[in-house]
Amino acid sequence: MPTLLHLDSSPTGDHSVSRALTAEFVKNWKAANPGGTVITRDLPTTPLSPVDGQWIGAAYTPAENRTAEQKQALALSDTLTSELLSADEYVLGVPMWNFGVPGTFKLWIDQIARVGVTFAYVDGKPQGLLNGKKARFFIATGGEYSGASPFAAYNFVEPYLRSVFGFLGVVDVAFQTAGGAAALNYGADRAAFLAPQLAAIQAIFATA
Ligand SMILES: Cc1cc2nc3c(=O)[nH]c(=O)nc-3n(C[C@H](O)[C@H](O)[C@H](O)COP(=O)(O)O)c2cc1C
Repeated sequence: MPTLLHLDSSPTGDHSVSRALTAEFVKNWKAANPGGTVITRDLPTTPLSPVDGQWIGAAYTPAENRTAEQKQALALSDTLTSELLSADEYVLGVPMWNFGVPGTFKLWIDQIARVGVTFAYVDGKPQGLLNGKKARFFIATGGEYSGASPFAAYNFVEPYLRSVFGFLGVVDVAFQTAGGAAALNYGADRAAFLAPQLAAIQAIFATA
């Protein structure tokens, strides 16, 4: 039975656009996979901290030689990487913040990019270890960054996600971006704004 990792990184709860989209995906995924398992990872309530010298030393120490302190330093990373390893597919909600990903999301990336766990060096070359996984990203942006926009080059979210997940071996990736979400702060109707986004998600399952 398939396992889905559902990850959200927006801290805005019921106001979040990306959360509304991942929730719709998960609802449809559950209906399509009644025996499936969903792992939920909520980054704003995860005690993420920047990797420090001890973390790096521990990560590069062979597992059998790690001290109790080093094991403790990697404990959260172990949990987060095991979620990625045990899931078959991932759905991730990612707001654009200052043209990139939110800080919590970057902290998560730093915890899950682990040598010997999610990538390895083979003949001196990095090789991803999350092979065969699928990732679907729901991105919410205040502005518009689609191809024709003069701000397209400011969008570092999708290229970054594509690169870092590709590095980890996840090359089967899909992106759906809800652009122009800033309109919601100026009186635009939330249901009307979300409707085409939710319809696009339902269409994924209608054709599956
Ligand atoms: C701290 C912060 C920084 C933001 N930076 C940008 C930005 O650089 N470009 C943009 O288009 N929107 C930006 N926004 C708007 C968000 O991308 C937008 O509100 C989006 O809906 C957030 O996703 P969410 O609704 O899932 O939280 C920013 C919002 C916040 C709170």
